[in-house]
Amino acid sequence: MTTVDRDDEQDRHTRAEQRLGTVGVAHRSVGAREATRANLAWWDADADDYQAAHGEFLGDADFVWCPEGVREADARLLGDVRGRRVAEIGCGQAACSRWLAAAGARPVGLDLSAGMLRHARAGAARTGIDVPLLQATADALPLADGSMDAACSAFGALPFVASVEAVFAEVRRVLRPGAPWVFAVTHPMRWIFPDDPGPAGLTASQPYFDRTPYVEVDADGRATYVEYHRTVGDYVRALAATGFALEDLLEPEWPAGHTRVWGQWSPVRGKLFPGTAIFRARACP
Ligand SMILES: C[S@@+](CC[C@H](N)C(=O)[O-])C[C@H]1O[C@@H](n2cnc3c(N)ncnc32)[C@H](O)[C@@H]1O
Repeated sequence: MTTVDRDDEQDRHTRAEQRLGTVGVAHRSVGAREATRANLAWWDADADDYQAAHGEFLGDADFVWCPEGVREADARLLGDVRGRRVAEIGCGQAACSRWLAAAGARPVGLDLSAGMLRHARAGAARTGIDVPLLQATADALPLADGSMDAACSAFGALPFVASVEAVFAEVRRVLRPGAPWVFAVTHPMRWIFPDDPGPAGLTASQPYFDRTPYVEVDADGRATYVEYHRTVGDYVRALAATGFALEDLLEPEWPAGHTRVWGQWSPVRGKLFPGTAIFRARACP
């Protein structure tokens, strides 16, 4: 396991920001079109650096749910996947989809970014595990109604879409009744702290109830990166409104001896409060 230190992480973001002409942060609402355009450009610009920083930790054919290192091989949140058609939303380099294929599932990986999907193809070439890949935004899935037996997402798409309800409705549409929908996101309570893995990230400074997204902008005020905040209740209500029954909400603890820093995830913060929320829901009949 590599240790990505704070400077490496900062450099990574600095490179993407330079490519996109980011000059600052704005506090304003952002609609779906602007968010999709900004995040497509961001993930294309950041794809190589993301893979360089996190590829070793995520593995080539491994299903790691979160920076705390929870693995599907141990957690089995999707249940028995053998023979199941599984949609991975925001698959990035698609290591999870390759693990699913190796476990006997029939996965399809979907992602907005051609840059991230380029790494998915490279992963297929390295491992010999070739999963179908589709370039698509999570709120318009190019999959038939009821064609999937499960859906999953490890920090893919959901933090970056203007409407989480639109994504959940699409996921519900493509799932058969009774199918699991499991997704990991940044734990909503982290929103109140500065995005810092050290002691500075322990002092609350931002209202939990303020849903105004975090927006980086270029010199013309155009969004170059957008990340949305939802409260725990927002996720629960969105699932209920789109035809899902929530079965569990996992808040993985920081494992003893786990020293890897990933962005704002660190042992310093992990021993005090959760960094990841994993929602396990099921499509209602
Ligand atoms: C933090 S990365 C996670 C990638 C992968 N799941 C992993 O565990 O490494 C977020 C991914 O979401 C994708 N993404 C962002 N917005 C999206 C959208 N609207 N629809 C689909 N994918 C999106 C990005 O391209 C990126 O690959």
